[in-house]
Amino acid sequence: MAIRKVGVVGCGLMGSGIAQVCAAAGFDVVVAEVSEELLNKGMDRLRGFLADGVKRGKMTQEKMDQILSNIKPTVSLEDFADRDFVIEAIIENIAEKRKLFSQLDKICPPHTIFASNTSSLAIMEMAISTKRLDRFVGLHFFNPVPLMKLAEVIYTITSSDETVKDVKEFAAALGKTPVLAKDTPGFIVNRLLVPYLLDAIRMYEAGTASIEDIDAAMVLGCGYPMGPMTLNDLVGLDTTYYIANIFFEELKDPKFAPPPLMKRMVLAGLLGRKTGKGFYDYSEKK
Ligand code: CAA
Repeated sequence: MAIRKVGVVGCGLMGSGIAQVCAAAGFDVVVAEVSEELLNKGMDRLRGFLADGVKRGKMTQEKMDQILSNIKPTVSLEDFADRDFVIEAIIENIAEKRKLFSQLDKICPPHTIFASNTSSLAIMEMAISTKRLDRFVGLHFFNPVPLMKLAEVIYTITSSDETVKDVKEFAAALGKTPVLAKDTPGFIVNRLLVPYLLDAIRMYEAGTASIEDIDAAMVLGCGYPMGPMTLNDLVGLDTTYYIANIFFEELKDPKFAPPPLMKRMVLAGLLGRKTGKGFYDYSEKK
């Protein structure tokens, strides 16, 4: 099936990035949020990223205008009635996601493929809220979406081969390299990344090394683009904490158990870049 019309539900950090890369690849995109306020915030973020790209000489103003003209922002799911492919990027709450997919199942035509950008929840648990178990997969992007070259395509025990092929081709059309993974906790990246991020916090908590030295060690010793403490701040401590707990619950493996310091930082609102302070201080003062 040829995918031409794309719907993105959620215009947060991930949803706005997904809408942007789809529009940049020439797809007709509708992006939805639950309120005008959140929609405007998401579109401002998207416009800001594109404008920064123009400033950096990465794209022309003309290209930026063309990308924006491919995106229709909306607060109505009814605008998804003609979509070929819908990607969900709302909050990581299974009840909310199931409710959304059940609504979309009634609005979208039978050929529409559904994908979730979840990083932690079981794809199957969402698929069963629709009548299209064969046309339901995970399509997991990475933060920051426009810069990260990977997309995980997650197949369930009921996804059809044709759906998986279409979604792989779609990801490649976005300029991403698709990798295939089974519907299991963490897929590929987070299954490996989450224990690493948690271990870095455990190491700091135990007094083995300073925040700066843990980061410097992994950047300079392993060639990683950023150290684990910087990455914890980028992803958001609340996000990783939440994901880790879900994995721990399903796998009962202690390597996914969040360290006590992490819980306390989340409680204190020290979430990283999004709140101005995490392991590092991002306040303007500093
Ligand atoms: N538009 C276009 N290009 C832009 C841009 C913009 N607005 N902003 C930056 N760029 C370009 C830059 O020009 C630069 O391009 P060149 O390499 O051609 O010079 C490139 O992007 C890198 O930008 P910067 O030099 O400003 O920044 P950097 O070198 O520090 O890289 C980074 C930033 C790409 C985020 C890099 O640090 C990195 O890869 N970090 C790791 C991120 C990561 O691990 N993400 C995964 C998080 S986990 C996740 O998402 C999964 C989950 O489920 C929780």
